Amino acid sequence: MIEQSPQWMALQAHRQAIADLDMRVEFARDPARFDRLSLDGGGLFLDYSKNLVTDETLRLLVALARAAGVEARRDAMFGGERINTTEQRAVLHIALRNRAGNAIAVDGHDVMPEVNAVLARMRAYSDGIRAGRLTGVTGKPFTDVVNIGIGGSDLGPLMVTEALEPYRGANLRAHFVSNVDGAHLGRTLKSLDAASTLFIVASKTFTTQETLTNARSARQWMVAQLGSEQAVARHFAAVSTNLDATQAFGIPDEHVFAFWDWVGGRYSLWSAIGLPIALAVGMDRFEELLQGAHDMDRHFAQAPLAANLPVILALLGIWYIDFHGVHAHAVLPYDQSLHRFTAYLQQLDMESNGKSVTRAGASLRHASGPIVWGEPGTNGQHAFYQHLHQGTQWTPADFILPLRSHYPLGEHHRMLTANCLAQSQALMLGKNADQVRAELSAQGLDANSIEALTPHKVFAGNRPSNTLLMPQLTPRTLGALIALYEHKVFVQGTIWGVNSFDQWGVELGKQLAGKILADLRAGSTADGHDASTRGLLRRCLG
Ligand code: F6P
Repeated sequence: MIEQSPQWMALQAHRQAIADLDMRVEFARDPARFDRLSLDGGGLFLDYSKNLVTDETLRLLVALARAAGVEARRDAMFGGERINTTEQRAVLHIALRNRAGNAIAVDGHDVMPEVNAVLARMRAYSDGIRAGRLTGVTGKPFTDVVNIGIGGSDLGPLMVTEALEPYRGANLRAHFVSNVDGAHLGRTLKSLDAASTLFIVASKTFTTQETLTNARSARQWMVAQLGSEQAVARHFAAVSTNLDATQAFGIPDEHVFAFWDWVGGRYSLWSAIGLPIALAVGMDRFEELLQGAHDMDRHFAQAPLAANLPVILALLGIWYIDFHGVHAHAVLPYDQSLHRFTAYLQQLDMESNGKSVTRAGASLRHASGPIVWGEPGTNGQHAFYQHLHQGTQWTPADFILPLRSHYPLGEHHRMLTANCLAQSQALMLGKNADQVRAELSAQGLDANSIEALTPHKVFAGNRPSNTLLMPQLTPRTLGALIALYEHKVFVQGTIWGVNSFDQWGVELGKQLAGKILADLRAGSTADGHDASTRGLLRRCLG
């Protein structure tokens, strides 16, 4: 158990020893703090100087990572070992973006030829559709692509397609339908012409209730609109590991794109699950995205732990979660195109590390994955930043800022940049009572008003954050950014000793929903429900 290791205990003692650490004092004392506590890697720049750490903290954290076997487990992942032990699977999303040309083997079998073959099929298909060579059953070129999927089969491609909006062609619109709520599909269908619509049914298992329900309804709509079952073959494609099920659905093999059990759902956007991305921005751009992730993979695999971006982010998170009792982590992209990035990260982080037992099944005696939340700046500033600045519970934050905008409108980007830098500065510097009093007095307030207002206007400061910069949000830098967080989550899971690649916690709700659905269909409540659920069910049945 890691919490019994000397490295963990050393960090506990160190936490006590630096309980009064004040970043403002540290910056004043050490002019080189920013230079020392900042890093380049994989095309990204990280400033982590505004954290509640000293050089000794970082040394102890790196020692913890080493004691937890981060390097060995990283090498095991890259080497195709079956590190997802509860499902007996390898974890090889890094193979999907392996641009180096080397073999990567699972049980002695090189997976790269299959990976590259699917990429080549994605290119042929997406090129054909984008150029209007592959058409619908009436001969009309496709104008709309609807991805039907949920979780990892939705959030990744949706987030990336939005993030790469400046690279999108004008003649193909992308839609994403995930929720089983009929409003999601129904509202989407309203604006579509069936003759020029392509559905992609994306599901690793091809058994997910929401996806299959939406796919069946989409299929009915298509057949009703075009008056023929033949339309399904031309207007549907599928991405899955379950090729029997895609066949049973009636999707011809030439429109089915495979991936493999060693790709976790939330790590699958690099596989054919990324087909909507390729359709939206073209296969060349999709491959640049893969290249960016590969850049970060190489950095993660090769950089020493103390100069390794994902490792540093992971260790800072552990420092706050396990040694300061923090429960949450805010991710605040200062780029409107990243408006779904935090939603995507919620699945990546919370489904991976929201765990209570070790890989061996023992109860954890330390905290694991945080609540991840956030919205793009500057919107969040006018909503929840109040809590970040003055709430009693503080939340470490990652600010993400591209240096150049795709939309160079007037002063917009300069203002965005100013706001981003100001927020991390405000969190760190705060404002004390003397400063508040001086400001209020300069505004001409009387002494009583000054004393009454001062406590409300004080900012404690000394609140930590990281700032990530990139030259511009491009397919390549986006790939690196996503891979950075994937590896951060991996490092944290390794140190916490959990399996970051299963998700048993989603199963109970699915099982119970099945029973309740049976009751709803039967119009009566079977025995076996608790009183609250029975009462609610009766109300739902009317
Ligand atoms: O229920 C959770 C989950 O299994 C996720 O892990 C996954 O990304 C999502 O459902 C969708 O699964 P599938 O791609 O098999 O439809």
